[in-house]
Amino acid sequence: MTAPEKTAKVEKIAAKASVDYDALAAAADEKAQKFQHGKGKMTARERIDMLCDEGSFVEFGRFFGGDPAEGFLGSAVATGFGTIDGRTVAIYAQDFSIRGGTLGKVEGQKITDLIDRAIAERVPCFGLLDSGGARIQEGVAALSWYGRIFRKSCEASGFIPQISLILGPCAGGAVYSPALTDFVIMPRENSHMFVTGPDVVKAVTGEQISLDDLGGAEMHNSVSGVAHYLAEDEEDAIDYARALLNYLPQNCNEETPSYDYVPTKEDLEAARGVGDIVPADNRMPYDVVEVIESLVDHGEFVEVQEHWARSIVIGFACIEGKPVGIVADQPMHNAGTLDVEASEKTARFVRCCDAFGLPVVTLVDVPGYLPGAEQERAGIIRRGAKVIYAYGNCTVPVVTMITRKSYGGAYIVMGSKGIGADFAFAWPDAEIAVMGAEGAVQILRRRDIAAVPDEEKADYTKQLADEYQAENINPNFSVETGEIDRIVAPADTRDTLASALRSLRTKDRDRRHFKFHSNGPL
Ligand code: HXC
Repeated sequence: MTAPEKTAKVEKIAAKASVDYDALAAAADEKAQKFQHGKGKMTARERIDMLCDEGSFVEFGRFFGGDPAEGFLGSAVATGFGTIDGRTVAIYAQDFSIRGGTLGKVEGQKITDLIDRAIAERVPCFGLLDSGGARIQEGVAALSWYGRIFRKSCEASGFIPQISLILGPCAGGAVYSPALTDFVIMPRENSHMFVTGPDVVKAVTGEQISLDDLGGAEMHNSVSGVAHYLAEDEEDAIDYARALLNYLPQNCNEETPSYDYVPTKEDLEAARGVGDIVPADNRMPYDVVEVIESLVDHGEFVEVQEHWARSIVIGFACIEGKPVGIVADQPMHNAGTLDVEASEKTARFVRCCDAFGLPVVTLVDVPGYLPGAEQERAGIIRRGAKVIYAYGNCTVPVVTMITRKSYGGAYIVMGSKGIGADFAFAWPDAEIAVMGAEGAVQILRRRDIAAVPDEEKADYTKQLADEYQAENINPNFSVETGEIDRIVAPADTRDTLASALRSLRTKDRDRRHFKFHSNGPL
């Protein structure tokens, strides 16, 4: 090495040794702000600061993967631990201002390492996604790191809560990373998920479609069911993520949080008046969310997947200060029938509650599975079986209240005693039967009906149906066969649910069979 070469090398080393990392971090933040704010988005670190308690975030290797001396400021993802309401959580946030937030080897290493640490520390993991996907320049290596992230996420699934916020593009196979987590939150603007973008779609199929229609937040919240919450903006998305954590434990082996609860006058009045919300005529619709809000602490209900498969309502609330998962038929949409999508929505939620130790409270008012060729072709057998699989494998407390009607297969699957409920109750006027009175008399009294003149058939059938309804379609038979534990006046619903849940707090959740896993209809 010549003398000038030696000098140049020494100067380069000296330059590296004297790097002012704080100044570089400030410069990187400024660059990111210009880049992101111009697109109407927050930066990765602004998002983290908003998600965490102030000053609590500790970042791993901010400059890992960069070369500050060359002006290349870190990798395209920030990872670290922070706290939310004092609870430790792991967070990764993709930084779109660096190489479009894309994922190469370093980003892959950082994210898998973070999920690994979250598993080791047994804490929830939040992903804030904003990325062009696999970094094209790194080719198959980038793809491979997605594979490793997927595998890590599978390992974490059901062990620690995983929550994804889509705060920018999420393209290609990268979408499966959030899809594997428990909750996907998308703000209305600047949030897109698609396996193939509009340009590729046009080239392959000729279909011309906008980014929003293909993979926007409204589409994924109301049509595909990929997303669990449609946020107004990034702030609302982060608020919702924090709210979800209020109901979830740190990991599956820990208790869910508990809150002090003293019922207010409003709570007591709402609980007493719940019967007034439900019309006596079983064909009249009502909003079951009002019923739920009347029964839970302070009327606070955090709904999940509000805009998709709307004949079922799912979400979190507290009863006597303890989080529960609530599943309720929604008579306001398709009369509360169970269809393929409602089945999948219910099943995934019940599995989530069971994984994280939340009791499942089911409010039943269901006429049955939605009949028809369309549903059969859509796989109502295969997809409807998911609800059975979810309830049938529940180890958490399951408490069911039939408020108005519960017919046929839907009766069984919606948290009946047969499928595994610990307690099942019914309101005094509840209708529980294999099928409605009209259908039953058409089968049971077919010969009698055939014997009357045609012009009298309609009146005669109605008379038979009314008789059948009065004699057979009530909860008494279910009480006598042990399928219903008790008839409960609507005004006593909340107290009954609360005391049932209290009595189940120490329920033994041990698994009985030694197997790798069951093979449910995924
Ligand atoms: C490398 C990329 C990139 C990528 C974006 N960039 N995507 N670099 N690999 N996949 C770079 C851009 O070149 C640009 O760099 C910077 O990131 C910002 O991107 P822009 O296009 O300027 O931003 P914007 O207009 O907001 O558009 C964002 C976008 C678009 C919609 C994400 O960039 C896009 O369509 N990218 C490709 C998306 C995609 O198809 N990805 C591959 C998915 S396959 P400069 O230097 O100009 O600032 C995949 C497989 C996963 O992910 C496999 C799992 C099994």
